[in-house]
Amino acid sequence: MMPTPQWARAHTNIALIKYWGKKDPKLMLPANDSLSLTLADFYTDTLVRFRGDCPGDSLTIDGQPVSAGALTKAVRVLDEVRRRAGLTLPAQVISRNHVPTAAGLASSASGLAALAAAAAQAAGLHLTEQELSRIARHGSGSATRSVAGGFVRWYAGTDDASSYALPVAAAPALLQDIRVLAVIFSDQPKAIGSTAGMAQTVATSSYFPAWTERAERDLAALLPALAAGDFPRVGAIAEGNALAMHALTWAARPPFTYFLPATLALVQGIQAWRAAAPVPVYATIDAGPNVKLLTLADHVAAVQEWLADHFPTARVVVTHAGPGIQYYPERKEPR
Ligand code: DP6
Repeated sequence: MMPTPQWARAHTNIALIKYWGKKDPKLMLPANDSLSLTLADFYTDTLVRFRGDCPGDSLTIDGQPVSAGALTKAVRVLDEVRRRAGLTLPAQVISRNHVPTAAGLASSASGLAALAAAAAQAAGLHLTEQELSRIARHGSGSATRSVAGGFVRWYAGTDDASSYALPVAAAPALLQDIRVLAVIFSDQPKAIGSTAGMAQTVATSSYFPAWTERAERDLAALLPALAAGDFPRVGAIAEGNALAMHALTWAARPPFTYFLPATLALVQGIQAWRAAAPVPVYATIDAGPNVKLLTLADHVAAVQEWLADHFPTARVVVTHAGPGIQYYPERKEPR
């Protein structure tokens, strides 16, 4: 069939159980299962056109051609789609990020998930979220989970076919009420990207075997807490898992950390506040200095007030649970 250009939108996600380490970098198989929440306010729209009149694959983000590294990740996704569709045409990819740089959230998860969906649809493949997540995985691990909405589990698997993401059952009230406050201390690019940081950790951190065991245990405890809508339990497990991930980097050779002094001050401040007042608020941190606070809708105002008092210079963006992939025809650029 003739390829039909197509827009797809995917949202970024925040992991409650982190992916940190690959057991197979070529196939992009993670060392452990991970679990995330897809976020409503941060997303990428991507248009894919397969066309014979282009010399090779091209990708612009917000009108700018991307770096060689970013293009390589995109080409891995496009190659998977071409292989499945029996296509050889190059692709023109136009991508628009709606991830405010001020939010300090990576756009690679939403970007590569949107690319997988737009490319598959444009190639005439009508795939389930599960199949799309396998394709997105070839671009970036965290993109695997951005294909679905709400709480999403990435099954590590043992080969290409068994490493995919699926939505996870959660109490409806929890899905509706959970809030994420992104607290931004720095929007500078990090010194060690996640791909390199996790590779260094796998190769040298003496805690790595303990981490994969810990992550599987945290996930097993999180699933019933999500199903029961037990937010304090969900938050405590997520916070503990994030700190365990960051402990790995200190035990790597050479040792490193993504924390700034403000990162630690916020984690300690939140823990002390929680001990003193009955406010359910928990921290999680990705491969950078910024902190995402998890809380419930009723407590957002109190958390914002506390942040304004204790971290007056930090920028704060509030969001909630978001949906999976959405499609738009070529002529209807989404807004
Ligand atoms: C800390 O998905 O960016 O955000 O697979 O090498 O592209 P690659 O890495 P990436 O790593 C994400 C790491 C994390 C944790 C998580 O999202 O689970």
